[in-house]
Amino acid sequence: METDFAHTVLGNTGVPVHRLGMSATYRPGKKTVHRAIDEGINYFFAYGFDTHMTRTLREAMRGRREKFVVATGAYNLILGHPNLRRTLEKRLRQFNTDYIDLFLFLGVMKEKQFPEELCEEIRRLKNDGKVRFVGMSCHDRKFAGKLAADGALDVLMIRYNAAHRGAEQEIFPFVSAHDIGVVSYTATRWTYLLRRPKTWPKDGPVPTAGQCYRFVLSNPHVHVCMTAPSNVKHLEENLAALRQGPLDEAEMAFMRKFGDAVHDLKKWFM
Ligand SMILES: NC(=O)c1ccc[n+]([C@@H]2O[C@H](COP(=O)([O-])OP(=O)(O)OC[C@H]3O[C@@H](n4cnc5c(N)ncnc54)[C@H](OP(=O)(O)O)[C@@H]3O)[C@@H](O)[C@H]2O)c1
Repeated sequence: METDFAHTVLGNTGVPVHRLGMSATYRPGKKTVHRAIDEGINYFFAYGFDTHMTRTLREAMRGRREKFVVATGAYNLILGHPNLRRTLEKRLRQFNTDYIDLFLFLGVMKEKQFPEELCEEIRRLKNDGKVRFVGMSCHDRKFAGKLAADGALDVLMIRYNAAHRGAEQEIFPFVSAHDIGVVSYTATRWTYLLRRPKTWPKDGPVPTAGQCYRFVLSNPHVHVCMTAPSNVKHLEENLAALRQGPLDEAEMAFMRKFGDAVHDLKKWFM
């Protein structure tokens, strides 16, 4: 797979990836997942409950498993975490496959939720070939930066968008040492970057979803930016946007300014 704005290698994993990662969490329909496959997207992320994704991939991967990068994992629960080995076996059944490309420990909010022994446990999943690479998703940027500097995991899944740019200081400076794979989420900041904040001029421009994904992918440290379209039209628009390449300086400045306006909205769950 060539390397250009829409294609790269997922860091030290050496796995060629389309830089738009597909999620079906907002139930866009099997047709949308099939369209993503036909359009060359090969990185697919799914929780256990993402049946639009698991059911579609189970069929689509038959006879061409190597064409797909399946990312899934176990979610960090408030009262501890599920048995990783059992969760892995469940995902293997759900996708009807004998290996997972990227097994993630998901939803770590604080460092203490991912102690050394848990990091060790997730690394051991690679020992019997059922898992190719491991990673985690984390809202604690400083901790993610530390893990990147240590080279503790193969891939980090982190929040990065025009409103939340802290990863530029707290994570990205540390990923090159071990060529850590970087996957980003909430490019639209839960769609707030697609809506006009009260503080924004009535006649001022508002970003498109495409500009949100291009903003994220204009940062060379991000290998894959997740997109969770709600329908096939969203997906087509987002793929068309990627064909426009990186944002120019004026567009980047606009996205940062709009991002600051959204960031200052200070919503509870951000
Ligand atoms: N800690 C973690 O591991 C973590 C945290 C956050 C998210 N995630 C996961 O990351 C994945 C991606 O989620 P995300 O929140 O990052 O998705 P996203 O792509 O930033 O946002 C998806 C939403 O944006 C809107 N949208 C997308 N394309 C559009 C288009 N072309 N035109 C208009 N609206 C468009 C849709 O909202 P409407 O239909 O409402 O307009 C869609 O539901 C999901 O699986 C999510 O669960 C993981």
